[in-house]
Amino acid sequence: MNLLVANWKMAPDTPKAAVVLAKKTAALARTHKKTLTLAVCAPFVHIPLIAKSLGLASLGAQSTAPTDTIASTGLVSAGMLKSAGVKYCIVGHSEARARGDSNALVKEQFDQLFAKKIIPILCVGEKERDPQGWYLSSIKDQLESALLGVPKAALKRIVIAYEPIWAIGSNAVREATPTECREMIIFIRKIVSDLYEGEKVNIQILYGGSVNEENAGTFITEGTAQGLLVGRASLDVKIFTKLTARVASVS
Ligand code: PGA
Repeated sequence: MNLLVANWKMAPDTPKAAVVLAKKTAALARTHKKTLTLAVCAPFVHIPLIAKSLGLASLGAQSTAPTDTIASTGLVSAGMLKSAGVKYCIVGHSEARARGDSNALVKEQFDQLFAKKIIPILCVGEKERDPQGWYLSSIKDQLESALLGVPKAALKRIVIAYEPIWAIGSNAVREATPTECREMIIFIRKIVSDLYEGEKVNIQILYGGSVNEENAGTFITEGTAQGLLVGRASLDVKIFTKLTARVASVS
């Protein structure tokens, strides 16, 4: 089943607006329950508030602490997220990497989530594409670092999101094409398979970056993504309603 993840980023501003948006998203999850899975990755402060309003949509977070030690002022542990009902958590988002999160830190966060049985949504992506294809090695490093030591059978409890940084957010240079998405998904599968001695691997790969109601379907049909990570468009109920219907129609 395709997974549609709403990444609310640092929005909405108020608890009231978060609950309203959660209820609308819950209605979409109910309408499309036979065709897709919806998840909302919300800012920490909204998590307990929206937990009961999400209905069939799953609760998600956007980051977690790389450790469970109490001496971590300002952070939120994977254990706390688990007890708040969180099922998914984004790690390695490019906006967090831009603030300094290294592959090593992402790995620690990943392992914390994994230990608490929260499904990590591991974001990987390149800043830009060079004609020589060196950008592929940065994707390889991000994948190999996070997946180190993960048993093959556990891959079904991990989601990967391919998010080209140049296609994300309001600074996006342009949208990625479905072909670029498909090629990268093939590359990601190959890297992951190589980590497990070339065996076929069962891992869900999403696409994210300027997904909207127009292009959402093609990233799934032509792009072969098994779901989408949606930022800005998930905060606009009208747009997200159309986008969700589009994904449901191709699922
Ligand atoms: P966008 O963000 O859809 O607003 O480009 C995607 C993301 O940051 O996950």
